[in-house]
Amino acid sequence: MTKDHTDTKSPGFSWDAVQSALAGLPNGAGLNIAHEAVDRHAAGPLRDRTAFRWIGEDGDPQDLSYGKLSALTNRFANVLEALGVEKGDGVFACADRIPELYIAALGAFKHGAVFCPLFSAFGPEPIRQRLERGKARVLLTTGRLFRQKISALTEQLPDLRHVILTDAVTADTLAYPDLMAAAADTYAIPPTDPEDSALLHFTSGTTGMPKGAIHVHGAILVHHITGRHVLDLRDPDVFWCTADPGWVTGTIYGIITPLLMGVTSIIDEGAFDAVRWFEILASQGVTVWYTSPTAIRRLMRVPPEEIRRYDLGRLRHILSVGEPLPPDAILWGRAVLGRDIHDTWWQTETGGIMIANTPAVTIRPGSMGKPIPGVTAAVLERREDNTVAVIEAPETVGELGLAVGWPSMFRGYLNEPERYARCFSDGWYLSGDLACRDADGYFWFVGRRDDIIKTSGQMVGPFEVERLLLSHPFVADAGVIGKPDPMIGEVVKAFVVLKPHIRADDDTRRELMAFSRKNLGAAIAPGEIEFADSIPKNRAGKVMRRLLKARELGEDLGDLSTLED
Ligand code: WT7
Repeated sequence: MTKDHTDTKSPGFSWDAVQSALAGLPNGAGLNIAHEAVDRHAAGPLRDRTAFRWIGEDGDPQDLSYGKLSALTNRFANVLEALGVEKGDGVFACADRIPELYIAALGAFKHGAVFCPLFSAFGPEPIRQRLERGKARVLLTTGRLFRQKISALTEQLPDLRHVILTDAVTADTLAYPDLMAAAADTYAIPPTDPEDSALLHFTSGTTGMPKGAIHVHGAILVHHITGRHVLDLRDPDVFWCTADPGWVTGTIYGIITPLLMGVTSIIDEGAFDAVRWFEILASQGVTVWYTSPTAIRRLMRVPPEEIRRYDLGRLRHILSVGEPLPPDAILWGRAVLGRDIHDTWWQTETGGIMIANTPAVTIRPGSMGKPIPGVTAAVLERREDNTVAVIEAPETVGELGLAVGWPSMFRGYLNEPERYARCFSDGWYLSGDLACRDADGYFWFVGRRDDIIKTSGQMVGPFEVERLLLSHPFVADAGVIGKPDPMIGEVVKAFVVLKPHIRADDDTRRELMAFSRKNLGAAIAPGEIEFADSIPKNRAGKVMRRLLKARELGEDLGDLSTLED
């Protein structure tokens, strides 16, 4: 996998500084995430501590100690070795939150492969796109997901040499239990350079297909200090990060950081259910809980007297990420849970939390908090010539930027150096978010600068949806926006222009809905389709989603000077 160290022309930033910051860390295996997260503990007093406890759909827990996790991830690294997987090769997983996915991730880190998780609610089209673009060499998945979404794709993916099924056997796949049984449970981690690629996450852009953000071993390791300063993890905490590893929160804070901190993590294999979540918090004695506004909004619908039936006495610290955390959620936390909810802000690209309400910050409901130590954030103005200026005046909206060189910075977009370079200007990384800063240094989220949709806390690129709709024989044109929704933030809404003679009726709408769900999956497919006579385009032919959105919201249409006609 190629890494791209585009010169970001930052004054005062050097990779040498990053390297020397790493020099003091234990170096048992070069600097390998899985060594630091698992083997280091397995060789010490935490050997028998539960690293992960999976709660199955039926409520039955399954525990893996640090010692057992070390042996199993050794086995998986040996499996990769036996399959001829080389350093830098892509090892992908598409599965729910099952133990095999976590073992594969850590085994891949040990072997020097690049791990890439794909959300199990993706349909075949986003899965194929990402496997192809990431040149996946190995894919771990389940029998059901393989049958439903993947088996028909493998012929189109020449780079994909091996598909491993966790729970089924077919003619052209390998069986995880057999491979693991045949593999040795000791493994010598090859020397790992802090700059070796470890983790790949695809994230949506407004234009073009999703981009693959690359993270390296050393960067992720250094930034795990957020496990102490933001998550406030202490010995012997029971931590529950509710995010799915298909998204970056679910790998960085759902797998890596809690292990580095030596705590026990709870993983719920089941789908969201408000009552079940309170049950888990109480019965597992969760002490630190990292969740999302979409989940919190749903939990807020449970009557307080029902919530009070659960003993949440061990819960010490609650955090949120992914979307704006509304002030009423904080007030609910105080009134019903008796605790503050600490908002945190970051992105796939940042590799870890950047702005937060740490335990040391007095919460201002509605604010994301302050930049954490080691991070410089600012509100920026983009000038016409692509340079930027820092907006010093408080309470002024601009683009949220980070000074280049923060510890967990992504190292590139896979095979797209130009796209990476476009994220930077004058030593700043431009986040695409709009924000303002108050006179006391608190940051307040305002919105996105681009058309990216946030639905249930997950990013959806409108282009990916438009492209799929355009591939349907009924569709002449399509434009996709996020329509504000009180529960899930935004719903994906598609405006569709039909070809002549295609009827704009419920049958057509149902057909297009079913087509989208089948190909894109529930995570990306539009929740609403509206027929339109035309899609507004600018002179360059770009869909003017801003206009579609303003029309949807009944707002002033604003500057129409670039509209084609
Ligand atoms: C985008 C990044 C890395 C966390 C999971 C999402 C939005 C994130 C907040 C917050 C308001 C937030 C931003 C950001 N976002 N945290 N606390 N308040 N908005 O990672 O999928 O890369 O999404 O999520 O728009 O740019 P992601």
